[in-house]
Amino acid sequence: MNQSEQWSSRIGFILASAGSAIGLGAIWKFPYVAGISGGGAFFFIFLLFTLILGLPLLLAEFAIGRSTQKDAIESYKAIAPNTKWHFVGYLGLVTSFILLSFYSVIGGWIIAYIFRTITGQLNGISAEQYGIVFAETISNPGISISVHFLFMLLTVVVVAKGVQNGIEKANYIMMPALFIIFILLIIRSLTLSHASEGISFLFFPDFSKLNSEAVLAALGQSFFTLSVGASTMVTYSSYVKKSENLPRSALSIVMMNIFVVVLAGLAIFPAVFSFGLQPDAGPVLLFQVLPNVFSHMPFGILFFLAFLVLFLFAALTSSFSMLEIIVAVISKGDKSLRKKWSWIIGFIIFLMGIPSALSYGPWSDITILGKSIFDAADFLVSNMLLPLGALLIAIFVPYKMKKSVLMEEMQHGGGFAKGLFNMWYFALKYIAPIAIIFVLLDVLGVWDL
Ligand code: PFF
Repeated sequence: MNQSEQWSSRIGFILASAGSAIGLGAIWKFPYVAGISGGGAFFFIFLLFTLILGLPLLLAEFAIGRSTQKDAIESYKAIAPNTKWHFVGYLGLVTSFILLSFYSVIGGWIIAYIFRTITGQLNGISAEQYGIVFAETISNPGISISVHFLFMLLTVVVVAKGVQNGIEKANYIMMPALFIIFILLIIRSLTLSHASEGISFLFFPDFSKLNSEAVLAALGQSFFTLSVGASTMVTYSSYVKKSENLPRSALSIVMMNIFVVVLAGLAIFPAVFSFGLQPDAGPVLLFQVLPNVFSHMPFGILFFLAFLVLFLFAALTSSFSMLEIIVAVISKGDKSLRKKWSWIIGFIIFLMGIPSALSYGPWSDITILGKSIFDAADFLVSNMLLPLGALLIAIFVPYKMKKSVLMEEMQHGGGFAKGLFNMWYFALKYIAPIAIIFVLLDVLGVWDL
């Protein structure tokens, strides 16, 4: 057992896992994917997937990690020795690797915006000018690679120290602060003219807009925002004490995540319609819309700066978990190996992210199956690797772990009523595999034949 790593408190674990979950996925990705995929109908399906698939899967990852107290590879080996199941752990490592390489590019955009705000370059400019400044920033290879580097540097520095020491305390202040600033943003956004159009876009589902791709995107989005499918939550829960109540933790993480998704949607969509911007603008959406909202607030620049810092923090607490799962496997609790490998892996991921960074600039013409390098990497992770990992975990837990062990794991630190346990087990064993396979086959057009 890896004694050197343990969350110091109950709340430490929840905050760290919530920190992994809440990040670019809820704040940046959700609004733009919802914008592309039809708004309300997408939101509805996303919620459904989050509750009936994401939540049970999150709890399944917790059960694997906490029962074995081992890293993402060893935990599978401990439960199913002499089998190939630990490849699910390797799949998680590969997923985290690719994910972090492009995640860091977006993290870098936040850093670039922080610089621009501090140096006063965003003062008093119009909605279109924001768009132009932003496009210039991300298409400039020097800037986008440097800020991507800085984001990876911040990630490495913390993970090299050990995630527990690095983030537990900071999370305490940053998360509530982020909520508060979101509330201010929403108040402003909702009081803009035409705000109601944004509300109907997000909350009134028009199911005729839903197609197979949008359903797959909703599935991927629900796993992405909960950090499910890559075994990161296996790793984080291996550091948690036996006294922790896992079902309660999983539920609070899911609820916080949905809360942030709704906050982000409420902050962004009313403003999109009010400023005459396009909801399907893609990954640039948040960065074009929010500066406009802040510029319509007293002391807007200061609030914007505070928002960016908190947003950066939310992104970093997610990126820590992606690097952590890899470093934990290699260093096996050895502090000096942890340090060395955090730097090495971090540097390789930085190099791997360069093509994604350039895909908004000089390499924008390069496409893979019709997608830019960035979009292709995102599609591979969000819509293929995470659902595949989730599918395998949904099969692994009920088939390879004893029901009695699972029951016991769920009982620590308070009860999990038998009825709820059975519901969870059923969702994992039957609903999750069938639903995931159905959605994947649907996108391949199998049902249309
Ligand atoms: N949940 C993170 C976010 O929404 O930003 C992204 C993420 C982190 C996905 C870790 C998967 C993962 F293993």
